[in-house]
Amino acid sequence: MPPSSVASGLTTSEAPFIEEARRHGELYIRQPYELYSKENHEAWRQLYSRMLPRWGKYANEHFLTGIRTLCLDSSRVPRLEDVNRFLNALTGFKAKAVSGYVPAFLFFDCLRNREFPTTITIRRADRLDYLPEPDIFHDIAGHVPMHTDRHFADTLVRFGECAHTAAEIVSGVRDASERVETLTSIIRAMARFFWFTIEFGLMRSRGGLRVYGSGLLSSYGEIQHAIESPEVQRFPIQLEWAINQAFEIDHYQPLLFIVDSFDHWFSLVDRLETWMREGKLNHVAPGEPSVNESDLKSFLDAAAP
Ligand SMILES: [Fe+2]
Repeated sequence: MPPSSVASGLTTSEAPFIEEARRHGELYIRQPYELYSKENHEAWRQLYSRMLPRWGKYANEHFLTGIRTLCLDSSRVPRLEDVNRFLNALTGFKAKAVSGYVPAFLFFDCLRNREFPTTITIRRADRLDYLPEPDIFHDIAGHVPMHTDRHFADTLVRFGECAHTAAEIVSGVRDASERVETLTSIIRAMARFFWFTIEFGLMRSRGGLRVYGSGLLSSYGEIQHAIESPEVQRFPIQLEWAINQAFEIDHYQPLLFIVDSFDHWFSLVDRLETWMREGKLNHVAPGEPSVNESDLKSFLDAAAP
């Protein structure tokens, strides 16, 4: 193996193994654990050890239970098969290694099947703070502990079912441009609801406001900012607001929504599906996020007869 590929290990945007998989069009891959470099493990160790006290202070109780249950090694990048042994026994979920971005329908369909598409690369040890894309720390330390909770896991599955409902609805729309327009709006609504709950959600827990969104749980700076900063607006979640609210991904979130419990959140996903069937998601407010071609195509393919 040439020295450069040894040096880059499985570092975000620098991993030859991932580039090779993408070149061959392989989305679902194995985790080649032997390729992680010393620097990769060091990045994990630093990320984990500095988050630990912040989780204790700001994370919700289900996350804290989850991270204990998973028995993650704080000093080394986790092996997905080890994580899955604990996770699968609890909720049937498992982390499934992917080579990169998973188009929206496929992503939701994985959730429906209790599979969580998981990035296996890790950010550089000298750039722990800024990362525009997910890495294994975000996915395994930020998302997966939540999947050990039965109510949370069941809600993710409901989310996945909603994607099927969306495909079913648009399969009945004859006019091609109307189909694309309707789908774009529904995907945008789902992406916003996902963002304001699964990625950046707050909940009432442990006698106060705590974080359950994985974007916050994996961010050393933003987890504190989300709870303590006077610059953040925090409101009880309203579905009609969340699905019409644009968001931007490249800075700390100025607006966060609070759920009372995961039962509460589950009921909102149910309502999302009802509204979808009633056509209430067909014309949500324009704006971010933009819906990309591959997301759209993944739904259109699923809707094709
Ligand atoms: Fe995420």
